[in-house]
Amino acid sequence: MANAFETYESNVRSYCRSFPTVFSAAKGAVLTDANGKSYIDFFSGAGGVNYGHNHPYIKQKVMDYLASDGIIHALDMYTPAKEDFISYFQANILQPKGLDYKIQFTGPTGTNAVEAALKLARKVTGRTNVFALMGAFHGMTMGSLALTTDASSRGGAGIPLGGVTHIPAPYMYPEMDTVDYMETLITDDHSGVEKPAAVVLEAVQADGGIYPMPVEYLQKLRAMCDRHNVLLIVDDIQAGCGRSGNFFAFERAGITPDMITLSKSIGGMGMPMALLLMKPELDIWSPGEHTGTFRGNQLSLVAAKAGLEVFVNEDIASQVAQKEAIVADFMKKEIETIDCRIQTRGVGLLWGVDLSALGGDALSKAVMTRCFENGLILERVGRDNAVMKLMPTLTVTPEELTTGLGILRDAIQNILAEA
Ligand SMILES: Cc1ncc(COP(=O)(O)O)c(C=O)c1O
Repeated sequence: MANAFETYESNVRSYCRSFPTVFSAAKGAVLTDANGKSYIDFFSGAGGVNYGHNHPYIKQKVMDYLASDGIIHALDMYTPAKEDFISYFQANILQPKGLDYKIQFTGPTGTNAVEAALKLARKVTGRTNVFALMGAFHGMTMGSLALTTDASSRGGAGIPLGGVTHIPAPYMYPEMDTVDYMETLITDDHSGVEKPAAVVLEAVQADGGIYPMPVEYLQKLRAMCDRHNVLLIVDDIQAGCGRSGNFFAFERAGITPDMITLSKSIGGMGMPMALLLMKPELDIWSPGEHTGTFRGNQLSLVAAKAGLEVFVNEDIASQVAQKEAIVADFMKKEIETIDCRIQTRGVGLLWGVDLSALGGDALSKAVMTRCFENGLILERVGRDNAVMKLMPTLTVTPEELTTGLGILRDAIQNILAEA
């Protein structure tokens, strides 16, 4: 099929290869293609549309703002849209949780926020090295790519990626205490490893294969970082904004990171936006030391505030808890029973179906393709892409959720039976 995309768009394009159709509309949890076929969306724009596609409240706020000739592009100048967002975020999300952070508006993609966090951690501590976990995904620009672990992303760098020591994730060696291991690297004068400025991690490792970090692990890591004056940075770009059930994915553990990165669904309805939250005493930036033309895009700020209002007013946290129970039950009764080698794990509405004991990339690709043919969009993550990633919109209806889960179950069952 020769078309404008395949003829002229770079070979680097990727998701369109998994879902080869032209998507022309989207509402709630459903995408529609140019042929009028609908798909339940268990991908949610890689986590960018937690509150659903074209959420009517958020969309109206954006349309009202456009109609009012409000300023759209203002760099980081003061605007009502920015003031409203900051005030609402502080009063309704951060302060009720007792969280005291200053907000840095970075360039609008997640990797921008991660780059800012790395720079600031190195500037504050005067150290270069950073610890990250094996299985981590933190973005594709050079600093965050050095944290990211998958070989294919790293292969694109073209230069050595340095300044990072990768630590086994806790699920990799269950018999080993990997926080003790980090502490040994820091304290042993024969470890051969530089003391880090920070430990960076996802509270739920997403692209590494859907691994919620155990609560005790996060708590122990927080205490270890405190003992050694090492900053703890939680990258909540994918697992944040309600995805885990709480607004922040680390809240399960009751810890307070020194810095938090946010992007994706902070933009309300898929508008580009990214933030770095930092404890006030870490804010030692000089004015303009980390800038960017598209920081705090005004339409994104309007959508972002409306998205937070949806989170609060529609009680997204309770909605996620109810739907998490549906998914957990389905996993146990309908997915794990297909074959005892299938593992499932997740939290909130971020789940993985791990097919690695049955097959790798080829099997998961066949399942993904069958799901797509039958009206379900979902992606694959983890080692050898062997984990089906379930990330429905948080506002998905229970019926849509169950229908999507059923399509996935049938696809796995049928592909295994055909093999
Ligand atoms: C945890 C995490 N951090 C950072 C990023 C990078 O975000 P972006 O693709 O917007 O640069 C991602 C993207 O998937 C992510 O999942």
